[in-house]
Amino acid sequence: MDLAAQTDALTMDDLRARGSWKWSTTPPGVIGAGIAEMDLPLAPCIAAAVAGTVERGITGYLPPWLAGEVARATAGWQAGYGWDVDLADVHVVPDVMDAFEHTVRHLLDPDPLVVLPTPAYMPFLTVPTALGWPLVTAPMTMGDNGYALDLDHLARVLRPGALLVLTNPQNPTGRVFTAAELHALAAVVHTAGATVFADEIHAGLVYPGHTHLPYASLSAITAGHTVTATSASKAWNVPGLACAQLIFTAEKFRARWAKTDPEVTHGASPLGAAAAIAAYTEGADHLNAVVGYLDAGRAIFAETVANSLPEATFRPPEGTYLGWLDLRQTGCDPADVAGLARVMGVDGRACGQPGHLRLNLATPHHLVREMADRLAACSRVG
Ligand SMILES: Cc1ncc(COP(=O)(O)O)c(C=O)c1O
Repeated sequence: MDLAAQTDALTMDDLRARGSWKWSTTPPGVIGAGIAEMDLPLAPCIAAAVAGTVERGITGYLPPWLAGEVARATAGWQAGYGWDVDLADVHVVPDVMDAFEHTVRHLLDPDPLVVLPTPAYMPFLTVPTALGWPLVTAPMTMGDNGYALDLDHLARVLRPGALLVLTNPQNPTGRVFTAAELHALAAVVHTAGATVFADEIHAGLVYPGHTHLPYASLSAITAGHTVTATSASKAWNVPGLACAQLIFTAEKFRARWAKTDPEVTHGASPLGAAAAIAAYTEGADHLNAVVGYLDAGRAIFAETVANSLPEATFRPPEGTYLGWLDLRQTGCDPADVAGLARVMGVDGRACGQPGHLRLNLATPHHLVREMADRLAACSRVG
C-alpha cells in the first residue's frame, strides 16, 4: 500500500489507539487537530534506521561520530536548497526551542530584546517571558497576497543586539516568504544591527509554486546576522526523537560557541540522530509523497470549509500542514469550537491573534473533510 492508501485507511479509532499526544489528549468524539504531529505513516527508512540503532546498542549518549554524521547529512540536505554549509558550522541540539534558548543565552549579549512577528508559534510568546527576556510583538499585516511582515514596524523596534524570530515557513499562517520579502527584511535587520533567529523547522513542507529559501543563504549580509535552527522533526514527523540542528557561519557566533561548555547543549538522542540522517539522505521520496498528500488535503479543506462555513476566511497554507482560519465574521469564539463543532484546534489567542483557529491538517483526508464539515456548527453563533 502506498502512503496515501495507508493514510486514507486510518480511522479515528486507529489514531486514538496509537496514543499520540494529539489524539490521547482529545476527548472522545472530537477530532484532534491541535499539536503539530502528523498522522501519516513514518518513513520506512527512518523506522529501519532507528531500529538498527537500537539493535546496535547505541542507546546511550549521542556519540561525537554520530553527531558528525548528522552534520554531514544536514549539510547535504541544505545543499539541495543551494546553501553551502561547512560541516563544522552544524551543531546538534535536542530541539528547536533549545536552539532558540542557546542562541539567546550563548550567542548574544545578555538579555536581548526578542522581536516576534505575530501570529506566531505559541511558545515564542511564552518562553522569552518565562526566561525573563524582554519581548515585543510585531503583528503581521494582511495584504492581497496574505500575511506579510510589517517592515516599518520592525524597523521601529529592532535595535543593535535585538533578536528577530523569523519563522519560515511560517507557523501558523503557512506563509513561505519570497526572495524579495526576505531581502527587504534583511535590509531592515542590517540597518538596525539586529540578529535573526531563522526557525526553518517546516522547510521540507512547502507546496508546489513556492520555494524554501534558507534566510542565511541569501547573501553575505544575512549570513552575517543569522542563526538558523532546523530539524527533520516536522517534515518527517520525528519530534519525539530529539535531534535538531543549529547552523551559523558568522565568526562572531563561532567564537562565542567555541567558549560555550558543551554540556549546555547536551541531550540530543542517538535515535533522533539516526532518524535525521535517514531523513536527509534517504527520505526525499517519502517526503514527496507526504507533501503530495498534504497538498491534496489543504485543497479538500479549502473547498469543504468554503461551503460549510462561508463566513470564515481560509487561505490554504503555502507551506506547513497548519490551517489558519479567520473566524471573526462567524461570531464564534475559537475557544468554543471544540464544544460546538467537536474539532479541537489551537485558539489563535495562544498565537497572539484572537479570532483565529489553528488546525492541524496532517490527518487522513476523510477526517480533513469531516473537520471542515463539522465547522458548520460555528456559523453565525454570535
Ligand atoms: C515554528 C516552530 N518552531 C519550533 C517548534 C518546536 O520544535 P521542537 O520540538 O524542535 O522544539 C515547532 C513545533 O511545532 C514549530 O512549529
